[in-house]
Amino acid sequence: MNQLVNTHLAATGSTKVDPVLQAATWELPLPTAQTTGRHTLICRSVQQETHDVKTFTFSTPDYARFYFEPGQFLTLTLEINGEMVSRCYTISSSPTRPHSISITVKRVTDGLISNWLHDHLKVDDEVGAFDPAGEFTPVGIKAEKLLLLSAGSGITPSMSMARAYADLGIKKDIVFVHNARSPKDIIFHHELVRFTQLNPHFKLVTICDQPGEKSDYDGLIGRLDAAVLATHIPDFAEREVFVCGPAGYMSYVNKLLLDHGFPAKQYHQESFSIETVTPVTTETNPDTCKIELTKSGKTFEVKSTDNLMLMIKSQGVPVPSSCGQGVCGTCKTKLVSGQVEMKHQGGIRQREIDKGFILLCCSKPVTPKLVLEL
Ligand code: FES
Repeated sequence: MNQLVNTHLAATGSTKVDPVLQAATWELPLPTAQTTGRHTLICRSVQQETHDVKTFTFSTPDYARFYFEPGQFLTLTLEINGEMVSRCYTISSSPTRPHSISITVKRVTDGLISNWLHDHLKVDDEVGAFDPAGEFTPVGIKAEKLLLLSAGSGITPSMSMARAYADLGIKKDIVFVHNARSPKDIIFHHELVRFTQLNPHFKLVTICDQPGEKSDYDGLIGRLDAAVLATHIPDFAEREVFVCGPAGYMSYVNKLLLDHGFPAKQYHQESFSIETVTPVTTETNPDTCKIELTKSGKTFEVKSTDNLMLMIKSQGVPVPSSCGQGVCGTCKTKLVSGQVEMKHQGGIRQREIDKGFILLCCSKPVTPKLVLEL
C-alpha cells in the first residue's frame, strides 16, 4: 500500500473493454517478505455526511498510492481504552483517486469502534491499517449492466464502484438502489443525483422506510419489493447484482430476487459482518506440530487440532487480527515451510496463497513442522 509502483489502466483505446472490471487496472503489487501489509495512516479529513454518519479520509504520511478494487475493505487498528482493536470498514472512495482512502461510518448503538471514531478521531491523528482486501468487487466479472443494492452505511462499496465509473467518464448502465430510514438518512444523496445528470445510463432509486420531514424528497417510500423491481428495474434479471447492508436486508433481498427468477450466479453480497464474529472451529487430530517463528525466534509445539493464531498469541507473539474467520485478511502471514489446512472466506487471494501466504486465524497444521515468517 505504501509502495510507489507503476500502475496502468487495463483499457487501451477500445471502448469494448471496461477497465473497472479488469484486475490490471487496480492491481496490487503482490506482498513480499519485505511488505508486511501493515501501515500507519494519517487522518486528513472528517466529513459529516448525515446526522449520524461521518466520512474519514486517510493517507499515508508521504501520500503514497493505495491499490485496491472498488468494493474492497480496509482493516483499521486503533488503541481504545488501552487495548488494541481492529475492524474492517468497506472503502467508500474510489481507487481512481489513489492518494487517499475513505471510510464512511455510521454510529451504531453499542458499536465500540464506530462510536469511538465519531467521538474521538480527528484530523492529523494516526491509525494503524492493513492492506485493503475483500472479494466483494466487480473485478473479473463480465457485466454489461450493474444493479447496486444497499441499505444504510452498506452504501459504501456501491459508492466506490459508482465513483470509479464517474471518474473514468464511463457511462456504465447502472441502477443504484439505496434504502434508508428517512430522506435525511440518505448518504451521498447529492453526489448520486449528480451521477444521474452526468450519465444517462445511471439510474438512482431511493427507498425510505418513512417520509420524514424533508419536503423535497421525491423518491419512494416503503421497501424494495416485487412491484418496485417490476416498475423501476424491469430488466433486473439481466444485471450483475451487488448487495451490501445489514444481514437482515441482504437475506431479504437475496430471497426476493431468487423468488423472482434472478439467476443466482449473478448475485454477489458483502460477506463480512463485523458485529457477528464467530470463532473458527477445529477438528480432532491427534498429531502434534513444531512451530518455528523466524522473526521472533520462538519455537514451540502445538496440537494439529489447534488454531494457529490462538497458539501463536498464547506464546506472547502479537498477531494482528480482526474477523477471526478468514474474511478480513488481517492475519495474513508468510508460510516459509510446511503445510496447513486453511478454511478462509475470501480474506486471501489465490495468487497470495500461491506465493506461500496463509491466514493464521483459519489454519491448522497438517505437517509435523511449520516455519512462519513472524
Ligand atoms: S483475522 Fe481476519 S482473516 Fe484472519
